Amino acid sequence: MRAAAIGILTVSDRAFRGEYEDRGGPAIRDYLTDVLASEWTGIPVVVSDEQPDIEAALRKLAAEGCGLIITTGGTGPAARDVTPEATEAVCEKMMPGFGELMRKVSLEKVPTAILSRQTAGILGSSLIVNLPGQPKAIAECLDAVFPAIPYCIDLIG
Ligand code: MTE
Repeated sequence: MRAAAIGILTVSDRAFRGEYEDRGGPAIRDYLTDVLASEWTGIPVVVSDEQPDIEAALRKLAAEGCGLIITTGGTGPAARDVTPEATEAVCEKMMPGFGELMRKVSLEKVPTAILSRQTAGILGSSLIVNLPGQPKAIAECLDAVFPAIPYCIDLIG
């Protein structure tokens, strides 16, 4: 898996302002530590729910060589939830199957999973995957799609 650097992008106004401890980013890091056998470096970033800031962070992480960028938060229906829009704006190609599968498995756990518009896409040689902001959603979603991620990264590298 060509994913030595992995971007971990938390999208949250409150975490960005320091009013709330970021729990999504560390939950992603813990998940990756458990599942990845090879060496990897996490690049954690926290941004507010501002579409230009999310887009800039995604482009920067891709330029830094992240084969995989996982976002958490900002996928819901509220006015300031714009992570999927930012993802779509920077990606050349969308990978809708990721969002479809993550929602399907999440709906078996919580009916509110339908409220997430989480998606995935390709920016250059980076795969971007959106996750909801709930820390418990991280493993629920990644368990479903992680088996396909190394092959996807190989295909775009
Ligand atoms: N998916 C899983 N697996 N577990 C969850 O608890 N929460 C849902 C949904 N998807 C949830 C989930 C809720 S309550 C919301 S509002 C949406 O994700 C969007 O969350 P976000 O805006 O924090 O990204």
